[in-house]
Amino acid sequence: MAKTKIAVLISGRGSNMQALLEAAKDEAFPAEIVVVASNRPDAPGLAVAEAAGIATEVIDHRDYDGREAFEEALDSTLKMYGPRIVCLAGFMRILTPWFTERWRDLLINIHPSLLPAFKGLHTHERALEAGVRIHGCTVHYVRPEMDDGPIIGQAAVPVLPGDTPDTLAARVLEAEHKLYPQCVALACSGKARVAGERVRLQVREFGAELLMNPHD
Ligand code: GAR
Repeated sequence: MAKTKIAVLISGRGSNMQALLEAAKDEAFPAEIVVVASNRPDAPGLAVAEAAGIATEVIDHRDYDGREAFEEALDSTLKMYGPRIVCLAGFMRILTPWFTERWRDLLINIHPSLLPAFKGLHTHERALEAGVRIHGCTVHYVRPEMDDGPIIGQAAVPVLPGDTPDTLAARVLEAEHKLYPQCVALACSGKARVAGERVRLQVREFGAELLMNPHD
């Protein structure tokens, strides 16, 4: 079966992008990464993508006058590679409705919390401050509101005694690296479709860490 072309947007380290790259090596994975793009020329993930033979692009937001001009450039760059789906993987620019609506139901994000809890930054510090016992990560379709949109999958991790933001972040990141490829595979194979602002899943079985709505 033909693979779905995806673009991955990063701003930094790119470990989630790397998890997608690893997953895409499997012939059964339904997606191929056609381009990795960054808004930061110094993003370490760019070198990782290049070493893996993936096309890379830099669209430096500082070169543009305003968010829309930046997003128009980003959009035209992406279009050159013909992706059907765009995956945000640690992409740290807020996107305007112009961009998110253009890619509605085709734009996916991973966020380091169990949404709708802890939107925004410093999620691990805030989870510890709140005293939650369970934390985790979420993969969702992007909507104009920040860290909002129909949820494809979530992975939960325990908060352990003595955790610091760093130890908790590392435990969540490990879960992210498993969750993101699974969710991207579901989206690319048409098994995670948006219906009425919820994601309807067509799966018979899934990993225990991938918390799905049992009513779907
Ligand atoms: C990841 O933890 C990702 O969930 C988070 O940034 C990190 C990027 O790491 N994204 C957000 O906070 C978006 N709101 P990576 O560059 O190694 O994938």
